[in-house]
Amino acid sequence: MIDRLTSLLGEFKSELEGVTDSDALEALRVKYLGRKAPVNSLIKEIGSLPPEERGSAGQNINKAKKDMESALKEALYALESAEGAGNADAERIDVTLPGRRTPAGKPHPVTRVMDEIEDIFLALGFDIAEGPEVEDDYHNFCALNIPKDHPARDMQDTFYVEGDLLLRTHTSPVQIRVMENTTPPLRVIAPGAVYRRDSDLTHTPMFHQVEGFMVDKDVTFADLKGVLTLFLQRLFGDDTPVRFRPSFFPFTEPSAEVDIGCVICNSNSTTCRVCKGTGWLEILGAGMIDPAVFRHVGFDPEEFTGFAFGLGIERIAMLKFGIDDIRLFYENDLDFLRQF
Ligand code: DAH
Repeated sequence: MIDRLTSLLGEFKSELEGVTDSDALEALRVKYLGRKAPVNSLIKEIGSLPPEERGSAGQNINKAKKDMESALKEALYALESAEGAGNADAERIDVTLPGRRTPAGKPHPVTRVMDEIEDIFLALGFDIAEGPEVEDDYHNFCALNIPKDHPARDMQDTFYVEGDLLLRTHTSPVQIRVMENTTPPLRVIAPGAVYRRDSDLTHTPMFHQVEGFMVDKDVTFADLKGVLTLFLQRLFGDDTPVRFRPSFFPFTEPSAEVDIGCVICNSNSTTCRVCKGTGWLEILGAGMIDPAVFRHVGFDPEEFTGFAFGLGIERIAMLKFGIDDIRLFYENDLDFLRQF
């Protein structure tokens, strides 16, 4: 029995030397110390030994089991610390590597033009006001002298929400809201999103406008011409030609449309697709605020006069950046947006 115990221990030791991971170590433990391990059959055989040999045989078997257990424990400890060292290597941080950069965003071209327009008017002493995008019929139309059944309503393809509510078709209703709540002198611009049922190369259902107005005693058409000429020349360049053409809007009298010399062909091409060879680009609508509008907000038209104007931001961004399809602004194509 002693011989078999010795060779069992020998086999155990040589197998233990070949073990390289904790799974194999566990298999080895089951093989030599588990329920079906050979030492257990040796224990059973103790009973068939002569009585005087039984004691020392038992002690030898127990000692062999203890030796194997402590050898396994040591091997497990060695394996775990080796594996731990491997992990530490993988987890080591190289603080000399360059950091990961977050790509820097930049303002959308429409936002850029909006900011530029705001800066010009802030420098002229104008304040900035905002109004709701879901507007009521009264502020979007009636108070601006566009009663129900007025033909001018057909010009504005309105999205209706429910009842009296609609998506504002222009930023002009902010004029009404500001005048309802304050008294002259007023110098205000109102930038924001507006909505119309329209979609093609130069129209999107949502776009942006800036409304502006000035109300005081003795504001004249000359003030309108002076402020808008200065504004357009700051925006497009000091030498930009500006002209005023008679026009009609329900909320202004007299009214004008304002053109600038074509910034695409420099008014130099009879075949320019943007100005259609006319040399001029229509940029904004303007006029002297109609007395009917003043009466709606409780201003005395005998005491106060004022001018108002409105323009589309996308159209200006298209001209400034030479973009020929307005839909590009809203497709969120990063290659397009990164150019600005
Ligand atoms: N609200 C007009 C539009 O959306 C633009 C406009 C024209 C505004 C003339 C004005 C103005 O204040 O005087 O087409």
